[in-house]
Amino acid sequence: MSRRISMSLETKLVVSSIALLAVVSAVIATATTLLFEDFLTDRLDIQVSSAARRSAGASAEPPAGLAPEAAREVWFLLSPGQAEGTFGARVRLGRVHRAAVLSGGTVRDVPAPPKVAAVTGRPVTVDLGRLGAYRMASRPAPDGDVLVTGLPLNGVESTLTRLVMVEAAVTLAGVALTAAAGTLLVRHAVRPLGRLAATAARVSELPLATGDAVRLARVPEPDTDPRTEIGQVGGALNRMLGHVETAFAVRHESETRLRRFIADASHELRTPLASIVGYAELTRRSGEPHGPQTTHALGRISSEAGRMTTLVEDLLLLARLDAGRPLERVELDLSPLVVTAVGDAYAAAPRHRWLVSLPDQPALVVGDADRLHQVLTNLLANARTHTPPGTTVTTTVLADGGEVRVRVADDGPGIAPHVLPHVFGRFARGDGSRSRRAGGSGLGLAIVSAVAAAHEGRVEVASVPGSTVFTLTLPAAAPA
Ligand SMILES: Nc1ncnc2c1ncn2[C@@H]1O[C@H](COP(=O)(O)OP(=O)(O)OP(=O)(O)O)[C@@H](O)[C@H]1O
Ligand SMILES: [Mg+2]
Repeated sequence: MSRRISMSLETKLVVSSIALLAVVSAVIATATTLLFEDFLTDRLDIQVSSAARRSAGASAEPPAGLAPEAAREVWFLLSPGQAEGTFGARVRLGRVHRAAVLSGGTVRDVPAPPKVAAVTGRPVTVDLGRLGAYRMASRPAPDGDVLVTGLPLNGVESTLTRLVMVEAAVTLAGVALTAAAGTLLVRHAVRPLGRLAATAARVSELPLATGDAVRLARVPEPDTDPRTEIGQVGGALNRMLGHVETAFAVRHESETRLRRFIADASHELRTPLASIVGYAELTRRSGEPHGPQTTHALGRISSEAGRMTTLVEDLLLLARLDAGRPLERVELDLSPLVVTAVGDAYAAAPRHRWLVSLPDQPALVVGDADRLHQVLTNLLANARTHTPPGTTVTTTVLADGGEVRVRVADDGPGIAPHVLPHVFGRFARGDGSRSRRAGGSGLGLAIVSAVAAAHEGRVEVASVPGSTVFTLTLPAAAPA
C-alpha cells in the first residue's frame, strides 16, 4: 500500500535543499578526512623511518657512563634526535627481547605484543593497548638483532578528531542557515502562487450559473510577468478569465436578445388574438343562421384562441420576469388573496372539497398583488385539473417568524415521478404529450417559481400518491 505524505511546496523545497546540502557536506567531509588521514600518516611514516634510521645508526655498544640497568638493550632510544614518546624494541631470534618508551629523558619498559617482532622496514600500525596505536618500522642492528622504532599515532588521531568536529559543526551551521534562509527565500518565491489561488477562489465564488454578464477578477499585473514560470501561469489564467468573461457577455447578450424577442412576439400576438376572439364571438352572436359545422368551428376558434391568449400572456410574463422587470411592491395581506382564489377554484370545480386554514394575525408580505394572485390561481388550478372530482384541497396560510407560507395540499394521485424533479421547468407536463387534454401548456408552475423568486421567496413541492403539497414561502413584511 502506497501512502503519499502531503507537504506544502514550501516545505518540500526547503526539506529537499537541506537534504541535498547534508548529503554533499557528508561526502566532502568524508573525502577530506580520508585524504587528510593519508597525508598525516605519510608524514608520520617519514618521521618513523628517520627515527628507525637513527636507532640503527646508534653505536653497537651502549655509551660509556650511561648504563643504568634500565637503558640496557634499548639505549638506541637515547640517541640524539629521538623524540619524547618514541617506542623502541629489540627483537632477538624472532622474539621481542625488550620494549620501552622514551619518557622524560629516560626509558620506561612497556609490554609489547608479539606482533612487534614481525614489523618490517615498511611502517605499519601496531596497537600497544593502553599506550595507543603506534606506527613502527624496523632496521637490523650491527649486532644481528632487529631494532623496532615507533612513533605514537595519537597526534594524527587527535588532529583527525578535531577536523571531524569542525566539519560537523560547519555542516550543522550550514544546514541551519539553509533552513532559515531557504524558508524565507522559498516563501517569498511562492507568494505569487497564493495570489493566483486567491484570484481563482474569488472567481469560483461568483454565481456564474445565472447567465448574467459578469466582471471576473484578474491576477494582479506583477504576477503575470512572462519571464517567470508563475508569471506564465498568471498570464494564462488572466487570458482564460478574459475568454470566459467574453463568452459570458456573448451568452448574456444573446439571451437578452431572445428574451426581448419572446416578449416582443408575445406582445405583438396579443392584438391579433384579441381580434380573432372578438370576431368569433361577434359572428356567433350575430343572429345569422349557421349550420352545425360552422357553429362547432366557431366554438373551437374561440376556445383555441383563448388558450393561445393564456399561453402568450404566460410567455410574456415569464420573459418580463426573466428580464428582471421590477414588480409592483406594496404591503398586502395574503389571507384575503387566498380566500378569493379558493372561492374562484370552488366555482370552477364544485365537486372538489375546498378547505382553507388562515392564521389569526394578518399574513403581511410586500409584493405584487396581481402576480401573487396568479401564483395562487396556478397552484389551485393544478390541484383542480390534475386530480379527480371528490379530491380534498387544503390551503393553509402560516405566518411565523420572518416568513409567510402558503401551503396547497391535495390528496389526489400525485405528480408522476418522472415529472417531479423538473416540475417547475418550462413546458413540464405530466401527460408527456403535447395534446391539450388537460388544457395546460406546462408553464403554470414555471410562473409560480419565477414570481416567488422575484419576491425573494421560493416554492417547494413534495408529492407521493395521495398527497401533493406545494409550499410557497415569502419573506414577511417588516413590521411598521
Ligand atoms: N396537484 C397536482 N397533482 C398532480 N399533478 C400535478 C399537480 N400539480 C402539477 N402537476 C403536474 O405537473 C405538471 C406541470 O404543472 P404546470 O402547472 O406547470 O403545467 P400544467 O398544469 O400542465 O399547464 P398550465 O398550468 O400551464 O396550464 C402538470 O402537467 C401535472 O402533470
Ligand atoms: Mg398548471
